[in-house]
Amino acid sequence: DQSGMAYSVGVTLDRFIKLKQSDFPFASGELSQLLRDIALAAKIVNRETNRAGLANIGGAFGQINVQGEEQQKLDVIANIRFMRALSKGGEVCAIVSEEEDAVIDLQNNSGKYVVAIDPLDGSSNIDVNISIGTIFSIYRRKTPIGSPIQEEDIMQPGSEQVAAGYVLYGSSTMLVYTTGFGVNGFTYEASLGEFFLSHPNIQAPEDGKIYSINEGLEKHWSLGVKEYIDFCKSKGYSARYIGSLVADFHRNLLKGGIYLYPGTQKNPSGKLRLLYEANALAFIAEQAGAKATDGSQRILEIQPTSLHQRTPLFIGSDTMVDEVLRLIAKSN
Ligand code: AHG
Ligand code: MN
Ligand code: MN
Ligand code: MN
Repeated sequence: DQSGMAYSVGVTLDRFIKLKQSDFPFASGELSQLLRDIALAAKIVNRETNRAGLANIGGAFGQINVQGEEQQKLDVIANIRFMRALSKGGEVCAIVSEEEDAVIDLQNNSGKYVVAIDPLDGSSNIDVNISIGTIFSIYRRKTPIGSPIQEEDIMQPGSEQVAAGYVLYGSSTMLVYTTGFGVNGFTYEASLGEFFLSHPNIQAPEDGKIYSINEGLEKHWSLGVKEYIDFCKSKGYSARYIGSLVADFHRNLLKGGIYLYPGTQKNPSGKLRLLYEANALAFIAEQAGAKATDGSQRILEIQPTSLHQRTPLFIGSDTMVDEVLRLIAKSN
């Protein structure tokens, strides 16, 4: 494959997907079509987020989701937009969404892909105009096309992903994704309605000087995590925590850094969800030469047992993740 080849910056996402389709000689274009469907939904959600304050779609929707969180209107809107795009595209047979209690079976027997999605990541930042995101994972269904969806189609470890990506609705809107042949970033030009390749073949710096963690939970950290944060402070590293995983992850991927959401006594599995947050970013991280672990194993090795299960997450530059793993192991 030519993932090492730096494609000419400025190629559109559609053209890039077509060019890269050669990575899958046997693909009949369904994955390409699915990626295009996701990009379309991202353009629509981008427009909604940009006018949230004006179109009275800010604030709470008035329902509690399966996470026990108060859904924001934009959580619900983004969920609807992505579900609609994924079902209309015809390539998807089932969807797992943060905002849906149960698996959505699209009753589409020809669809061969399963998508896990966090339609709107960083909801607490919607009303205060801070970057938010979307996170998605794509799997091939395991059971034969045409048969009913089974648990094994849904409960797949992250290592089975065929593609993963995120959208970052920030100072500019970006789509970053991998199909297992490297990581590429596209920046949206709204006046043309196109994503253009802006960050070809992203490689995460081996080490970094930025750490992202909610220090408000410090008294609940394990000894290993505490020692690691003390280490970062002793080195004078920068603390950067946005409250939107996608934004923190993206900055650390480009500049070098580590994001930590550890488990605590009260919540041993931490807060972040395996199927539609940790797995996608872990796939991207590893494709960019970085690391993602739950503190004892690679995120991508975790065999899911429930849709909305949470996992501790330590993700970012290789050297930094190795160091926190060493301190966790030492203090166990
Ligand atoms: P979501 O908005 O999709 O529920 O995810 C929020 C996540 C993640 O984006 C962010 O880094 C983290 O929650 C912040 O959690 P705390 O407020 O507990 O630090
Ligand atoms: Mn949420
Ligand atoms: Mn999220
Ligand atoms: Mn969310």
